Amino acid sequence: MTIKIKRANEQDYKTIVDIGRISVVDAHGASCSAEDMNDYVARNYNDEAIRAELLDPKNIYHLIYVQEQPVGFSKIVLNAAHPNIEQEHSTKLDRIYLLKEFHDLKLGYELLKHNIEFSKANGQTGMWLFTWTGNQRAVNFYEKVGFSIVGSHMFKVSETHSNPNHHMLLIW
Ligand SMILES: CC(C)(COP(=O)(O)OP(=O)(O)OC[C@H]1O[C@@H](n2cnc3c(N)ncnc32)[C@H](O)[C@@H]1OP(=O)(O)O)[C@@H](O)C(=O)NCCC(=O)NCCS
Repeated sequence: MTIKIKRANEQDYKTIVDIGRISVVDAHGASCSAEDMNDYVARNYNDEAIRAELLDPKNIYHLIYVQEQPVGFSKIVLNAAHPNIEQEHSTKLDRIYLLKEFHDLKLGYELLKHNIEFSKANGQTGMWLFTWTGNQRAVNFYEKVGFSIVGSHMFKVSETHSNPNHHMLLIW
């Protein structure tokens, strides 16, 4: 299996929209009503929204390819402060999504490792993230890499629905 990871640029918006629309629903669909989920995805994963994300220099997106096919993406923000996470110069892992046909092949691990190395090379001391408490696959995955649960909050999916999220932190 030939794997490639590359930093995304503005031209990659369509790839991220296409993977996001499928994989976000697969990962979080069970956490709320179909209406709330569809609304969330429509607002956050459309051409305009992702283009704007890619044009903002603070957002660092990477794409992972298997045999030249894009199968997932990640987003980090360096030096992202959070009131409950007192870790200076730490990176927020804001998004990491693979198409489900490509789960369990260590591709998530490769992509996360790449982001950790990227963060280290940019003077970061750790990484933090939020994840829905019901996403056991993701929680196990992060724990396996060394993240710990350090807090929680309710994440707003829509005007009427919020999901409990863990705060997870990795210090290196
Ligand atoms: C979470 C995700 C990025 C992990 O990537 P992946 O390539 O599937 O994971 P890996 O093959 O690298 O597996 C690493 C570890 O994850 C954990 N894991 C994998 N599948 C699991 C499952 N079904 N249940 C619980 N833990 C699981 C295991 O600890 C595994 O290690 P092991 O195989 O040595 O036991 C990927 O599954 C994904 O994109 N999921 C959907 C999107 C998502 O939930 N994103 C996170 C939002 S916060």
